[in-house]
Amino acid sequence: MELHLKDKVAVVTGASKGIGLAVVEAMSREGVRVVAGSRNSTPELDALRDTYGVTVVQVDLSTAEGAETLVRRAVEQHDRIDILVNNLGAAEPRNGFLEVDDAEWRRIFDLTFFSAVRTSRAALPHLMGADGAAIVNISSINARLPFPMVVDYSAAKAALTSLNKTLSEEFAPRGVRVNAVSPGPVRTPFWTAPGGFADATAAAAGTTAQEALDVVVPRNMGISTGRITEPHEVADLVLFLASPLAANITGTEILVDGGQTKTL
Ligand SMILES: NC(=O)c1ccc[n+]([C@@H]2O[C@H](COP(=O)([O-])OP(=O)(O)OC[C@H]3O[C@@H](n4cnc5c(N)ncnc54)[C@H](OP(=O)(O)O)[C@@H]3O)[C@@H](O)[C@H]2O)c1
Repeated sequence: MELHLKDKVAVVTGASKGIGLAVVEAMSREGVRVVAGSRNSTPELDALRDTYGVTVVQVDLSTAEGAETLVRRAVEQHDRIDILVNNLGAAEPRNGFLEVDDAEWRRIFDLTFFSAVRTSRAALPHLMGADGAAIVNISSINARLPFPMVVDYSAAKAALTSLNKTLSEEFAPRGVRVNAVSPGPVRTPFWTAPGGFADATAAAAGTTAQEALDVVVPRNMGISTGRITEPHEVADLVLFLASPLAANITGTEILVDGGQTKTL
Protein backbone atom coordinates (compact mmCIF):
# COMPACT_ATOMS: atom_id res chain seq x y z
CA MET A 1 0.00 0.00 0.00
CA GLU A 2 1.42 3.40 -0.96
CA LEU A 3 1.09 5.66 2.06
CA HIS A 4 2.15 8.89 0.31
CA LEU A 5 4.31 9.89 3.26
CA LYS A 6 7.54 10.54 1.36
CA ASP A 7 9.27 13.80 2.41
CA LYS A 8 6.75 14.53 5.14
CA VAL A 9 8.35 15.86 8.35
CA ALA A 10 7.47 14.01 11.54
CA VAL A 11 8.30 14.57 15.21
CA VAL A 12 8.21 11.41 17.32
CA THR A 13 8.51 11.47 21.13
CA GLY A 14 9.94 8.63 23.22
CA ALA A 15 11.72 7.50 20.09
CA SER A 16 14.79 5.53 21.19
CA LYS A 17 13.10 2.24 22.08
CA GLY A 18 9.92 0.23 21.83
CA ILE A 19 6.94 1.62 19.94
CA GLY A 20 8.59 5.00 19.30
CA LEU A 21 11.61 3.34 17.71
CA ALA A 22 9.33 1.14 15.58
CA VAL A 23 7.48 4.26 14.39
CA VAL A 24 10.75 6.01 13.53
CA GLU A 25 11.93 2.96 11.59
CA ALA A 26 8.66 2.46 9.69
CA MET A 27 8.42 6.16 8.84
CA SER A 28 12.04 6.30 7.73
CA ARG A 29 11.44 3.41 5.34
CA GLU A 30 8.55 5.39 3.82
CA GLY A 31 10.84 8.36 3.20
CA VAL A 32 9.57 10.49 6.10
CA ARG A 33 12.08 12.96 7.54
CA VAL A 34 11.91 12.09 11.22
CA VAL A 35 12.95 14.15 14.23
CA ALA A 36 13.23 11.75 17.15
CA GLY A 37 13.13 12.85 20.79
CA SER A 38 14.23 10.91 23.87
CA ARG A 39 16.67 11.47 26.72
CA ASN A 40 19.26 9.08 25.30
CA SER A 41 19.91 7.52 21.95
CA THR A 42 20.34 3.78 21.39
CA PRO A 43 22.40 1.79 18.88
CA GLU A 44 19.15 1.09 17.00
CA LEU A 45 18.24 4.79 16.77
CA ASP A 46 21.81 5.70 15.85
CA ALA A 47 21.59 3.17 13.00
CA LEU A 48 18.42 4.87 11.71
CA ARG A 49 20.17 8.23 11.94
CA ASP A 50 23.09 6.90 9.91
CA THR A 51 20.95 5.10 7.31
CA TYR A 52 18.03 7.48 6.86
CA GLY A 53 19.20 10.80 8.28
CA VAL A 54 16.90 10.74 11.31
CA THR A 55 17.53 13.78 13.50
CA VAL A 56 18.11 12.61 17.05
CA VAL A 57 17.34 15.19 19.74
CA GLN A 58 18.26 14.26 23.29
CA VAL A 59 15.73 15.99 25.53
CA ASP A 60 13.82 15.37 28.72
CA LEU A 61 10.23 15.50 27.49
CA SER A 62 8.80 15.49 30.99
CA THR A 63 9.68 19.20 31.05
CA ALA A 64 8.20 22.19 29.21
CA GLU A 65 11.66 23.14 27.90
CA GLY A 66 12.16 19.65 26.47
CA ALA A 67 8.99 19.79 24.38
CA GLU A 68 9.82 23.26 23.07
CA THR A 69 13.39 22.26 22.25
CA LEU A 70 12.27 19.21 20.28
CA VAL A 71 9.76 21.16 18.18
CA ARG A 72 12.18 24.04 17.64
CA ARG A 73 14.89 21.66 16.41
CA ALA A 74 12.44 20.11 13.95
CA VAL A 75 11.47 23.49 12.53
CA GLU A 76 15.09 24.67 12.38
CA GLN A 77 16.05 21.53 10.51
CA HIS A 78 13.13 21.17 8.10
CA ASP A 79 11.24 24.47 8.20
CA ARG A 80 7.92 22.75 8.88
CA ILE A 81 6.18 19.88 10.72
CA ASP A 82 3.54 17.68 9.08
CA ILE A 83 3.13 14.92 11.66
CA LEU A 84 3.44 14.73 15.45
CA VAL A 85 3.45 11.35 17.18
CA ASN A 86 2.95 11.78 20.93
CA ASN A 87 4.32 8.41 21.94
CA LEU A 88 6.04 9.13 25.25
CA GLY A 89 4.41 7.58 28.28
CA ALA A 90 5.55 5.69 31.35
CA ALA A 91 4.19 3.55 34.14
CA GLU A 92 5.66 1.95 37.23
CA PRO A 93 4.20 -1.10 38.97
CA ARG A 94 2.27 0.12 42.06
CA ASN A 95 0.97 -1.66 45.13
CA GLY A 96 -2.38 0.10 44.89
CA PHE A 97 -3.73 3.63 45.22
CA LEU A 98 -2.68 4.24 48.83
CA GLU A 99 0.99 3.66 47.98
CA VAL A 100 1.22 6.39 45.32
CA ASP A 101 2.27 9.80 46.60
CA ASP A 102 1.85 13.21 44.96
CA ALA A 103 5.34 13.27 43.49
CA GLU A 104 4.72 9.91 41.81
CA TRP A 105 1.35 11.04 40.43
CA ARG A 106 2.99 14.20 39.05
CA ARG A 107 5.87 12.30 37.48
CA ILE A 108 3.59 9.88 35.65
CA PHE A 109 1.30 12.69 34.51
CA ASP A 110 4.29 14.76 33.30
CA LEU A 111 5.56 11.83 31.23
CA THR A 112 2.27 10.43 30.00
CA PHE A 113 -0.10 13.39 29.70
CA PHE A 114 1.64 16.77 29.99
CA SER A 115 4.35 15.73 27.55
CA ALA A 116 1.61 15.38 24.90
CA VAL A 117 0.00 18.67 25.97
CA ARG A 118 3.31 20.48 25.64
CA THR A 119 4.52 19.00 22.34
CA SER A 120 1.06 19.52 20.82
CA ARG A 121 1.00 23.16 21.98
CA ALA A 122 4.45 23.76 20.55
CA ALA A 123 3.82 21.89 17.27
CA LEU A 124 0.25 22.94 16.40
CA PRO A 125 1.14 26.41 15.06
CA HIS A 126 3.41 24.65 12.55
CA LEU A 127 1.02 21.78 11.85
CA MET A 128 -1.75 24.25 10.99
CA GLY A 129 0.36 25.56 8.11
CA ALA A 130 1.04 22.11 6.70
CA ASP A 131 -0.83 20.23 4.00
CA GLY A 132 -2.58 17.17 5.47
CA ALA A 133 -1.23 17.54 9.00
CA ALA A 134 -1.83 14.89 11.64
CA ILE A 135 -1.25 14.18 15.30
CA VAL A 136 -1.26 10.57 16.48
CA ASN A 137 -1.40 10.07 20.24
CA ILE A 138 -0.34 6.75 21.72
CA SER A 139 -2.80 6.18 24.53
CA SER A 140 -3.58 2.78 26.08
CA ILE A 141 -6.44 0.42 26.76
CA ASN A 142 -5.55 1.12 30.41
CA ALA A 143 -7.44 4.39 29.99
CA ARG A 144 -10.59 2.28 30.37
CA LEU A 145 -9.39 -0.59 32.60
CA PRO A 146 -9.49 -0.72 36.43
CA PHE A 147 -5.94 -2.02 37.16
CA PRO A 148 -4.78 -0.83 40.62
CA MET A 149 -1.20 -1.75 39.62
CA VAL A 150 -1.16 1.25 37.24
CA VAL A 151 -3.71 3.57 38.85
CA ASP A 152 -1.81 6.78 38.06
CA TYR A 153 -0.84 5.75 34.52
CA SER A 154 -4.42 4.75 33.69
CA ALA A 155 -5.74 8.14 34.81
CA ALA A 156 -3.08 9.91 32.74
CA LYS A 157 -4.02 7.85 29.68
CA ALA A 158 -7.72 8.58 30.20
CA ALA A 159 -6.81 12.28 30.21
CA LEU A 160 -4.83 11.78 27.00
CA THR A 161 -7.70 10.00 25.27
CA SER A 162 -9.96 12.91 26.25
CA LEU A 163 -7.43 15.45 24.99
CA ASN A 164 -7.22 13.51 21.73
CA LYS A 165 -10.94 13.96 21.14
CA THR A 166 -11.04 17.62 22.09
CA LEU A 167 -8.02 18.58 19.98
CA SER A 168 -9.57 16.78 17.02
CA GLU A 169 -12.68 18.95 17.32
CA GLU A 170 -10.83 22.24 17.64
CA PHE A 171 -8.25 21.65 14.94
CA ALA A 172 -10.09 19.72 12.23
CA PRO A 173 -11.34 22.99 10.69
CA ARG A 174 -7.73 24.20 10.68
CA GLY A 175 -6.47 21.21 8.76
CA VAL A 176 -5.03 19.05 11.53
CA ARG A 177 -6.40 15.55 12.13
CA VAL A 178 -5.94 14.09 15.63
CA ASN A 179 -6.30 10.38 16.35
CA ALA A 180 -5.24 7.93 19.05
CA VAL A 181 -3.89 4.42 18.97
CA SER A 182 -4.51 2.49 22.18
CA PRO A 183 -2.47 -0.70 22.51
CA GLY A 184 -2.83 -3.53 24.96
CA PRO A 185 0.44 -5.14 26.10
CA VAL A 186 3.26 -4.61 23.57
CA ARG A 187 6.63 -6.35 23.66
CA THR A 188 8.85 -3.35 24.53
CA PRO A 189 11.25 -2.39 27.34
CA PHE A 190 8.15 -1.04 29.12
CA TRP A 191 7.54 -4.74 29.87
CA THR A 192 10.92 -6.35 29.37
CA ALA A 193 13.28 -3.95 31.19
CA PRO A 194 14.67 -5.29 34.49
CA GLY A 195 12.16 -4.57 37.26
CA GLY A 196 9.43 -3.88 34.71
CA PHE A 197 6.00 -5.40 34.28
CA ALA A 198 7.22 -8.74 32.92
CA ASP A 199 9.35 -9.24 36.04
CA ALA A 200 6.46 -8.19 38.30
CA THR A 201 4.06 -10.56 36.52
CA ALA A 202 6.63 -13.37 36.59
CA ALA A 203 7.21 -12.94 40.33
CA ALA A 204 3.47 -13.07 41.03
CA ALA A 205 3.00 -16.15 38.83
CA GLY A 206 6.18 -17.93 39.90
CA THR A 207 7.60 -18.09 36.38
CA THR A 208 10.13 -16.42 34.08
CA ALA A 209 9.71 -13.02 32.46
CA GLN A 210 9.61 -14.66 29.02
CA GLU A 211 6.89 -17.11 30.07
CA ALA A 212 5.00 -14.28 31.73
CA LEU A 213 4.88 -12.34 28.46
CA ASP A 214 4.18 -15.26 26.17
CA VAL A 215 1.70 -17.21 28.31
CA VAL A 216 0.63 -15.60 31.60
CA VAL A 217 -0.20 -12.12 30.30
CA PRO A 218 -2.26 -13.26 27.28
CA ARG A 219 -4.12 -15.80 29.43
CA ASN A 220 -4.72 -13.65 32.51
CA MET A 221 -5.63 -10.56 30.52
CA GLY A 222 -7.97 -12.39 28.19
CA ILE A 223 -6.17 -11.51 24.97
CA SER A 224 -8.34 -13.30 22.40
CA THR A 225 -5.55 -13.84 19.86
CA GLY A 226 -3.44 -15.52 22.56
CA ARG A 227 -0.45 -13.23 22.24
CA ILE A 228 0.72 -9.73 23.03
CA THR A 229 1.30 -7.12 20.31
CA GLU A 230 4.63 -6.48 18.57
CA PRO A 231 5.86 -2.85 18.26
CA HIS A 232 5.78 -2.85 14.45
CA GLU A 233 2.06 -3.71 14.57
CA VAL A 234 1.40 -0.47 16.46
CA ALA A 235 3.72 1.46 14.14
CA ASP A 236 1.87 0.28 11.03
CA LEU A 237 -1.38 1.73 12.36
CA VAL A 238 0.29 4.98 13.35
CA LEU A 239 1.61 5.39 9.81
CA PHE A 240 -1.79 4.73 8.29
CA LEU A 241 -3.47 7.30 10.57
CA ALA A 242 -0.74 9.85 9.81
CA SER A 243 -1.06 9.30 6.07
CA PRO A 244 -3.37 10.90 3.49
CA LEU A 245 -5.14 7.52 3.25
CA ALA A 246 -6.80 8.48 6.55
CA ALA A 247 -7.66 11.99 5.31
CA ASN A 248 -11.23 11.89 6.65
CA ILE A 249 -10.47 10.08 9.92
CA THR A 250 -10.19 12.33 12.96
CA GLY A 251 -11.14 12.18 16.65
CA THR A 252 -11.02 8.41 16.72
CA GLU A 253 -9.25 5.93 18.97
CA ILE A 254 -8.23 2.57 17.53
CA LEU A 255 -7.37 -0.33 19.84
CA VAL A 256 -4.53 -2.75 19.06
CA ASP A 257 -5.10 -5.27 21.82
CA GLY A 258 -5.71 -8.68 20.29
CA GLY A 259 -9.33 -8.54 21.42
CA GLN A 260 -8.52 -7.94 25.10
CA THR A 261 -11.17 -5.22 25.40
CA LYS A 262 -14.50 -7.05 25.54
CA THR A 263 -16.88 -4.09 25.47
CA LEU A 264 -18.24 -2.26 22.41
N1 LIG B 1 4.38 -1.45 25.88
C1 LIG B 1 3.10 -1.56 26.17
O1 LIG B 1 2.62 -2.64 26.59
C2 LIG B 1 2.16 -0.40 25.97
C3 LIG B 1 0.79 -0.63 26.02
C4 LIG B 1 -0.09 0.42 25.85
C5 LIG B 1 0.41 1.70 25.64
N2 LIG B 1 1.75 1.89 25.61
C6 LIG B 1 2.22 3.26 25.40
O2 LIG B 1 3.05 3.31 24.26
C7 LIG B 1 4.02 4.34 24.42
C8 LIG B 1 5.40 3.77 24.18
O3 LIG B 1 5.59 2.72 25.10
P1 LIG B 1 6.82 1.73 25.00
O4 LIG B 1 6.36 0.47 25.58
O5 LIG B 1 7.42 1.76 23.65
O6 LIG B 1 7.82 2.46 26.05
P2 LIG B 1 9.32 2.12 26.42
O7 LIG B 1 9.74 0.85 25.79
O8 LIG B 1 9.41 2.26 27.89
O9 LIG B 1 10.14 3.33 25.73
C9 LIG B 1 9.93 4.61 26.24
C10 LIG B 1 10.64 5.62 25.36
O10 LIG B 1 10.43 6.90 25.94
C11 LIG B 1 11.68 7.53 26.19
N3 LIG B 1 11.59 8.35 27.40
C12 LIG B 1 11.36 7.92 28.66
N4 LIG B 1 11.37 8.97 29.49
C13 LIG B 1 11.61 10.07 28.72
C14 LIG B 1 11.74 11.45 29.00
N5 LIG B 1 11.64 11.94 30.24
N6 LIG B 1 11.97 12.30 27.97
C15 LIG B 1 12.11 11.83 26.72
N7 LIG B 1 11.98 10.54 26.39
C16 LIG B 1 11.75 9.68 27.39
C17 LIG B 1 12.66 6.37 26.33
O11 LIG B 1 13.98 6.75 26.04
P3 LIG B 1 14.99 7.36 27.15
O12 LIG B 1 14.89 6.45 28.35
O13 LIG B 1 16.30 7.34 26.48
O14 LIG B 1 14.52 8.73 27.42
C18 LIG B 1 12.13 5.41 25.27
O15 LIG B 1 12.58 5.81 24.01
C19 LIG B 1 3.81 4.90 25.81
O16 LIG B 1 2.97 6.03 25.76
C20 LIG B 1 3.08 3.78 26.53
O17 LIG B 1 2.29 4.26 27.59
C21 LIG B 1 2.64 0.89 25.77
